[in-house]
Formats: sequence, C-alpha cells, structure tokens
Amino acid sequence: MKIQKFKKRIGLIGFGCVGQGLYDVVEANRHLGWEIGSICVKDKEKPRSLPASAFTYDVQEVLQDPSLDIIAELISDPKEALVIIRQALQQGKTVVSANKKVVAENLPELIQLQQRHGGVLLYEASVCGSIPVLRTLEAYYGSEPLVEVRGILNGSSNYILSKLHAEHGNFQSALAQAQELGFAEADPSLDVEGTDALHKLCIMAAHAYGLLVHPDEVLHFGIQHITSEAVELADALGCRIKLVGSLKAAADGEVALQLLPTFIPEGDALYEVEAEFNGLEIEGRFAGKQFLKGRGAGSHPTGSAVWADVAAAVRGYRYTYPKLCTSQVSATSGDEQLTVLLQGTEERVAELLELLKPAIQHQTPDQSQVILSLTPQQLRQHQDLLNQRGIFVAAIPASVPLDIIPEAFSQTEAIPIGSL
Ligand SMILES: NC(=O)c1ccc[n+]([C@@H]2O[C@H](COP(=O)([O-])OP(=O)(O)OC[C@H]3O[C@@H](n4cnc5c(N)ncnc54)[C@H](OP(=O)(O)O)[C@@H]3O)[C@@H](O)[C@H]2O)c1
Repeated sequence: MKIQKFKKRIGLIGFGCVGQGLYDVVEANRHLGWEIGSICVKDKEKPRSLPASAFTYDVQEVLQDPSLDIIAELISDPKEALVIIRQALQQGKTVVSANKKVVAENLPELIQLQQRHGGVLLYEASVCGSIPVLRTLEAYYGSEPLVEVRGILNGSSNYILSKLHAEHGNFQSALAQAQELGFAEADPSLDVEGTDALHKLCIMAAHAYGLLVHPDEVLHFGIQHITSEAVELADALGCRIKLVGSLKAAADGEVALQLLPTFIPEGDALYEVEAEFNGLEIEGRFAGKQFLKGRGAGSHPTGSAVWADVAAAVRGYRYTYPKLCTSQVSATSGDEQLTVLLQGTEERVAELLELLKPAIQHQTPDQSQVILSLTPQQLRQHQDLLNQRGIFVAAIPASVPLDIIPEAFSQTEAIPIGSL
C-alpha cells in the first residue's frame, strides 16, 4: 500500500512559554509531516530564539491564511484571545487553545459557534497542562455517571505550597521561583487567588457532568493569605495544605463545586502531588477511583498537550460534550457540613466571630486561628468578606479528628510568611 505524504501547517499565535513549547515539539516531530507555517507575536523589540523574519505582528495574516490547516491560539491576553478564537470559529476553522479563562467564561458561546459554523475548538492544554483530563472525561467517562472529580489543578500554587511545607520559607520568594520556572501565569494573582484553578474546574464540569457554570458562581478561596501558623498546624496534624478543586454529584441533579485550600492527610492520593505537578482523582459510579498525575504547567508539558490536540483535530476528533446532551444538572456549593480553619489578624477574625460561631480558638502573638463548622453555602455567603479581610481559609477533612487540633495548635509558633 502506498502511503500518501502530505505537509500540514499550523498557524501559531503567541510564542511565549507554551508557543515555544509547541514549536519545539513540532520541530522534534517533523517526520510526522507537520510544520509551523506562520507565527504571530506582539512585541517587535523582544529578543527571540528565531530570526525576525519568522514572525508577523498582524494576527490577520494568520487568521486569513488559507494555507494553514489549524490555528494554535497561545497568547497571554484573554480579551484578544477570545476575539481570535471567535473569528476563527466564525470562519469554520479548527482552533486549539490553552486559554482556560477564555474557555471557562465563554463556553456556551464557543460551543454554539462550533455548532453554527462547523469549526472545531479543542483545549486540552487549558486543564492540568500535560495530563489528558478532558479527553479522559469526554471519551472514556462520557457515559458513566461520576461520583466525584477532585484534584490539584494549579501547578504554580502547588509549587508554592510544597516550598512552604518543605522549607518554611517566604511566600514571595516561592512565588518568584515559580515564575522563574515558567509555572506561573503572566498575572500570578490568577494562580494564588485560585482563579486559574477555578477556570479549570468549570471547564471540567462541562465534560464530567454536562454542567455549564460561570466561574463567578462557584465557592472558591486561594492561598494568597496563607500563614506560617496554618502550614505548621497542617504539619502537626500530619497533613499538607493543597489547593483542591472538586466536583461532586449531589442529590436531585445538582453538582457541588468548590475550590478550597484543604488539609490533605498522608495516604490521600493528593498528598504526594508536589511542586508543579497536578493530580486528579476521578471516581466513577462503576469504575471506582482512578488517579491521573503529571506536569500541570511549563513549556514542553503544555506544548505537548497542545500538540496532542493538533494531531487529534486533524484526525477528525472534536468534543461532543456527551453529558451536556443527556443530563439536566445545576450547580450548588453543597450542603455537607464542612470543618474550616480561619486565620488572620486578631481584630479581623474577631469581627467575623460575631457572624460565625467557632468550635476551637487559638491565639498566637499576631494571629487568631479558629476552627468552625458550617455548610459550603454559608462559607460562600461570607466569601467576599473573608477575602477582603485577608483571612486564610482552609477545609479540614472529616478524617482529621477535631480533638487532636488543640494539641497541634500548641506545637505551632508564629513566623511571618509574607503574602501576595
Ligand atoms: N505557561 C504555562 O505553563 C501554561 C500552562 C497551561 C496553559 N497556559 C496558557 O497558555 C497561554 C499562553 O501562556 P504563556 O505562558 O505561553 O504566556 P507567555 O509566556 O506570557 O507568552 C504569551 C505570548 O503571547 C503573545 N501575545 C500576547 N498578546 C498578543 C497579541 N495581542 N497578539 C499576538 N501575540 C500576543 C506574546 O507576544 P510577545 O512575545 O511579543 O510578548 C507572547 O509571545 C495562556 O492562555 C495561559 O493561560 C500556560
């Protein structure tokens, strides 16, 4: 049999961490018949790894080029990225993107554009970098009801948390290291305030449960207010603090979504997910629990996920959103009682105690720590206030007995940790 040789051409928009990663992967796989046909960037003065002649600064040169088979949108500006993706889909093109903010905030429109104009949008790299999350949820679990999907979804904040546990160092320097290593977003507040992980959670909700939910509707806290006392308390309890996003089937066609710093005890699959790695536990009603772990960020791991989408799209793969077509679900924060640590300066916590009743209280020279029990819905009601007050919030799972907490508190010392 004679195999027909062909060259497929990618139009690359954005040549930063991920764009360069995709470029390297494509170059390493030239024998597969792909080439980067055109590259668009923004800054004419920036030094580049390729000659200036390799670049255009006019995005329309890429979007209007009929010789390109696929567009890879890999820019850092979400507003412009949405304009690019919209235009490409309106032209019926095939687009791959790594931009979780754009996908999470505009998924209903992006699905409609594909249906109306026949284009295709894949975005595997937008959720957990190199881990094949969306294709697993879509293709493998598309017809199995899921009990829960929970995981560590942001490499940069996980890197910071790992550093704080390992070295008891400073928040700012751990963040700076995450940025140097290319794990952090251009705007690192997206990582540490939990917004980036929240976007991924909302994207997963569409594929895992057929739920279209806007990030603004979801209970979420980040790690920006973490304190050394919280890290020490977790250590004393044999736990590590992780930023955990979860989707859980709730009663009556509801899906509970939340993103919370969480005390993870040893033995939990997420405990060993360290540094820039991401980990995801998927529990199917019939399959039971499965665990995926891999690099959630970085140039080549993310470039590899974009490349997997490019190769899949050209073979005709597209998301079918199987559960979106078959289920009617709505979002909730959940009503299962949560045990929560709140930590902040004395006067700020004192104000909150008028609203919330603590079970355990502990005082260090400049911090108040309280443990209380409340529903996720109650926590959501106080979300903005807690964030404005600079209070660190973390969930403590039921497997950690409350009666060992006072003893663990007494083992902690106050050391300033800094914050964003
Ligand atoms: N970094 C990661 O590990 C990672 C992981 C998963 C997903 N992502 C997502 O991947 C996307 C790219 O992230 P990144 O880390 O590669 O960002 P980055 O390193 O900051 O690079 C961004 C690139 O976009 C270009 N750009 C920005 N605005 C543009 C515009 N209006 N027109 C043309 N080019 C424009 C920049 O051009 P100049 O070079 O001229 O400045 C640069 O080449 C983002 O959506 C991010 O959320 C990143």
